[in-house]
Amino acid sequence: MPTILKGKSIVLGVAGSIAAFKAADLASKLTQAGAFVDVVLTRSAQEFVGVATFAGLTHRPVSTGLYESNSELGIDHVALARRADLVLIAPATANILAKLAHGVSDDVLTATVLAGSQPLVIAPAMDANMYGNAATQSNVETLRERGAHFIGPESGRLASGLVGKGRMTEVPDIIGHVRALLGRHGDLAGCRVVVSAGGTEEAIDPVRVLTNRSTGKMGYAVAEAARDRGADVTLIAAPTFLPAPPCVNVVGVASAIEMRDAVQSACSNADLLVMAAAVSDYRPADPADEKIKKTGDDSLNIDLIQNPDIIAGVNGDGLVKVAFAAETTDVIENAGAKLSSKGVDMVVANDVSAADSGFGTDTNAVTFIFPGRDPEPMPLMDKLDVGNALLDRALPLLK
Ligand SMILES: Cc1cc2nc3c(=O)[nH]c(=O)nc-3n(C[C@H](O)[C@H](O)[C@H](O)COP(=O)(O)O)c2cc1C
Repeated sequence: MPTILKGKSIVLGVAGSIAAFKAADLASKLTQAGAFVDVVLTRSAQEFVGVATFAGLTHRPVSTGLYESNSELGIDHVALARRADLVLIAPATANILAKLAHGVSDDVLTATVLAGSQPLVIAPAMDANMYGNAATQSNVETLRERGAHFIGPESGRLASGLVGKGRMTEVPDIIGHVRALLGRHGDLAGCRVVVSAGGTEEAIDPVRVLTNRSTGKMGYAVAEAARDRGADVTLIAAPTFLPAPPCVNVVGVASAIEMRDAVQSACSNADLLVMAAAVSDYRPADPADEKIKKTGDDSLNIDLIQNPDIIAGVNGDGLVKVAFAAETTDVIENAGAKLSSKGVDMVVANDVSAADSGFGTDTNAVTFIFPGRDPEPMPLMDKLDVGNALLDRALPLLK
């Protein structure tokens, strides 16, 4: 699953916080995604985590001092700054924020930041009082004004025992922000993309719903793929257990009617709509106000009425519309019929009965269907790759 991280050079600065252990996971995940990760440890960071951990995880030398004779920094103290696509400091201490805000350059990390012109991403971690201190806040503001991108800190229980703002943002969220930043000038920069995801829920009574097996994975993957290519993404999400993708505007909905309203509103100024949600075709006509009780009868009838066809009803100036079609029989024929019945530019046919394909899986095998062209079957791919393949084909359709 190649992402925007593949082949990128990232300097990961680790400062002396109790959260430094999380940087090992960060280094590992970035490396696994194909990035070249040059870890820089401050002197204090080495009290918390060791060089061997990061060298082992990244398969690269770790920098700890400006005058190390065993690294290129011994002859060139700004070598890392020159080659990095992005500098990420996680965790960032109150001390490192103060040093950066004042242009101090007394170790590898501060020298790299001072000499570099690439995006600087900072994930602070500290005691809530340290973070709330006027000096720290002023340093954060100074760095923000100079263009640094702050991720967090989050509120929660801190190592100091306090509950407050100071926890380092979790690793997957940091990686999402980094991906968005690296992709900001991608081929969808300036495009507004709306994606729907998940299975809608139609109320039967206050405790029961009519829903389907969609997990939202496919729509979330399309949203992440578009974000990583620079798009401004709005994700209209029916209930799922998936974490919100960072740097995506997520609008939570439950029913088909709520989804229709949210999609229509988001599409008023969008360029591309991808309907990956599994929208219930029908909803209970008259949901009960109170929980339906079991009676002596063997059966219970619930009247259903048809939901609106969301994508067919959405109109936007120059809006390109892509519909997923989940089918279990006559996949290509059934999906192809939706091109005209829904008035869309492209249908992504999805045999949800096939192995490793469809609901809940991390992979999918789809066929792209366009008006007046032969269907284009794709091999089984990771859902992020399916999202990128979809966007590759939607891109030429965008005005
Ligand atoms: C156990 C322990 C935990 C610490 N955790 C943090 C922390 O989470 N955030 C922080 O800003 N400082 C923390 N400090 C203080 C820093 O380590 C100290 O300010 C140090 O000078 C930071 O150096 P550096 O910014 O060069 O890494 C901690 C200190 C100790 C002894």
